[in-house]
Amino acid sequence: MKTSKGSAKFLIGDRIYLRPIEPEDLPLIQRWINDPEIRILEGEVLPTSISDEKEWLENLYKDKSKVWFVVALKDNDKMIGTGGFLRIYYIWRNADLSIMIGEKEEWGKGYGTEAIRLLLSYGFEALNFHRISLGVFDFNKRAIRAYKKAGFKKEGVLRDGYYCNSKYHDVIMMSILEGEF
Ligand SMILES: CC(C)(COP(=O)(O)OP(=O)(O)OC[C@H]1O[C@@H](n2cnc3c(N)ncnc32)[C@H](O)[C@@H]1OP(=O)(O)O)[C@@H](O)C(=O)NCCC(=O)NCCS
Repeated sequence: MKTSKGSAKFLIGDRIYLRPIEPEDLPLIQRWINDPEIRILEGEVLPTSISDEKEWLENLYKDKSKVWFVVALKDNDKMIGTGGFLRIYYIWRNADLSIMIGEKEEWGKGYGTEAIRLLLSYGFEALNFHRISLGVFDFNKRAIRAYKKAGFKKEGVLRDGYYCNSKYHDVIMMSILEGEF
């Protein structure tokens, strides 16, 4: 049976929901990843084509070390970003979290923090993670604030870990444990 995207809601929050990624979503994701402002925040250097994106999606659902979603608004099903887990080690019960609100006019409205919290609850409660971690560039103050609001703690610094626009930047390492959520 053919279903609308809204009916594929998988994790449901107050104002947003997370659903599986479909091939029709790829042009928008490609636009976000190639955006000059976003790709610096994400550490992307090379251009991404639609065929790269198709290959990524084909591999995604076969690769058990990753779980990825579209972030959409409950009000109108507008797709505003993506997020999920990568480097999942089920035996060690840990993973890295990734989030991108690609629609820049939706930044700063609390959607990123809500998406992070939905992912954390799914990670700890359904995927049985004990620890969820991430790295964020030191100049990405909005992201650092959103991670802290969701409960992440700073646990270290990769000094000069990111080189961008002829400058070195520190990478802030953050994590949250299951009992802290
Ligand atoms: C990072 C991101 C997920 C955050 O989501 P968001 O919906 O924009 O953020 P929220 O509205 O939930 O929270 C942002 C917080 O940062 C604060 N903030 C914004 N700009 C800031 C700045 N320059 N300095 C300090 N705090 C700042 C906001 O005031 C808000 O905190 P508050 O609720 O206490 O007022 C989103 O902006 C995004 O995807 N950006 C582009 C890609 C990216 O950076 N991904 C993360 C890579 S590690």
